[in-house]
Amino acid sequence: MKRILLLMSAALLSFACSKPQPQEFHVIPMPADVSLTQGSFNVAGALISCDEGLDERSLAAVSRFADALKTATGKPCTGGKGEIHFGINPNLAAEQYFIEVKEDGVNVEASALNGFVYAIETLKQMLPPAVYGNKKVKAQYLLPCGTILDQPRFDYRGMHLDPCRHFWSIEETKRYLDVMAAYKLNRFHWHLTEDQGWRMEVKKYPRLTEVGAWRNGTVIRKDWDSNDGIRYGGFYTQDQMREIVEYAAARGITVIPEIDLPGHMVAALAAYPELGCTGGPYEVWTRWGVSNEILCAGNEQVYTFLEGVFDELLDIFPSQYIHIGGDECFNGVDPAPWDSCPKCGALMRKLGIKPGPQAKHLLQNYVTARIQDYLNSKGRKIIGWDEVLQGNLAKGATVMSWRGVEGGIEAASKGFDAIMTPSGFCYFDYYQGQERDKEPFGIGGNLPLPKVYSYEPYDGMAPGVEDHILGVQANLWTEYIASPEHLEYMLLPRMCALSEVQWCARENKDYKRFDASLDHTFEILDAMGVNYSLDCRGLVGLERKPARSEAEMEEYLAKKDWNW
Ligand code: ACM
Ligand code: ZN
Repeated sequence: MKRILLLMSAALLSFACSKPQPQEFHVIPMPADVSLTQGSFNVAGALISCDEGLDERSLAAVSRFADALKTATGKPCTGGKGEIHFGINPNLAAEQYFIEVKEDGVNVEASALNGFVYAIETLKQMLPPAVYGNKKVKAQYLLPCGTILDQPRFDYRGMHLDPCRHFWSIEETKRYLDVMAAYKLNRFHWHLTEDQGWRMEVKKYPRLTEVGAWRNGTVIRKDWDSNDGIRYGGFYTQDQMREIVEYAAARGITVIPEIDLPGHMVAALAAYPELGCTGGPYEVWTRWGVSNEILCAGNEQVYTFLEGVFDELLDIFPSQYIHIGGDECFNGVDPAPWDSCPKCGALMRKLGIKPGPQAKHLLQNYVTARIQDYLNSKGRKIIGWDEVLQGNLAKGATVMSWRGVEGGIEAASKGFDAIMTPSGFCYFDYYQGQERDKEPFGIGGNLPLPKVYSYEPYDGMAPGVEDHILGVQANLWTEYIASPEHLEYMLLPRMCALSEVQWCARENKDYKRFDASLDHTFEILDAMGVNYSLDCRGLVGLERKPARSEAEMEEYLAKKDWNW
């Protein structure tokens, strides 16, 4: 049984093309199995239909696709010349899809929303970039004949965003999700709390956003001891966060919220100073870096507070995984702030934690385990940054390896699941090339596009250990990123390279092929109105200088001094 999704008046459409030739295949991430034959199918005006059993979100995804085709081609889906049919195939895995293009029609099969969403993204990338835009463009809307059977290498394909150092509106966040969806990422890690700002409305604790969402200035360049004195901030209401959860879900993306604890908590301490070891007063941080002030582990009120925050958070975010942070609690400070706190001292004695270098880690393990138990009791699982491994991490936690690959390897070797996000390959706040003075001012580091692409998550891992690697994520911290134009410049096209690390089997990766597809991707991003870096084409910076010559480009790509 078919449901005709879009059937307008059946005017027969003619198109003048004697023998259309398949176009080149420039899909990122490259699908697992592609077999192209001769001929093509013209999607302009094609009827779009779906099996009866498609769920509402899949139907909505197909409907968005139909709208995109109609906008770009200017032709409603009247079905004059064949049909694009979306059918359910229960034999396919949830993220798998199959496409068959024949000269008289297209058959798309999947078993669930994500498969349909990815099939649509593949079809869109096979068409002229105008299908990503909002206007009619005269072009040949031809799909090459052939078959595609595709599925991802990793289940977890994440991209993180920091709305705390700089705040991103709901509309800007949706655009971020749009580009994630275009490249088949499926986890959005939303880092909602920081020393420099608390971004989540919590009804039980209104001062978190009345006080904690606002700072009295932002650092000027590398002078971390001074600031511009301008009040800065913002937060998301619970309705807005629900809107983001639904917008992401409709595109096959799960939002994983992060409440970073027990460190990175000064914004919360400014709102509720009784939660700190000294009682304050505290001020929402106007510096970058990490404050020494953290939640008091020995104060029961802290656990009541955290449970209250998580109760509201769980109501908004259905994700199985909740990120509880855990990074940089001690900020290189020894003795740790907990060492001089009577309440923390009493708890350590009660727990039998002996003074010494391990004490602070064991106390952090206690905090992590309390929150883990609480979230487990609500049917959720925790992710923590790799510092949570220090001491004795309780079973069932997932470790996010950011200080390198070692944390992930150690975690996986000990039987924990791990997500790889090593800074050397996955920190998109780093500069993109050698010509730093021409790039927008940044935090430092150096992460050119080919290096992102070169990342192999199993490197250094023994067989068996690999099974604990859930996937890969890149992180985008925003200390020095204050505009959407700059945010997108840092994100793209590095996220496209990331998408191949996440999606493609090792043998399907090929930087030259990827690079050759980038021009098509740049046109897609242009159509979406999204900014990107052209460093890989020799055009550095937001204001780009003339392109390198081919010879200069060869020399650039051959460079070995990229601080890898
Ligand atoms: C981190 O970059 N502090 C996780
Ligand atoms: Zn304390």
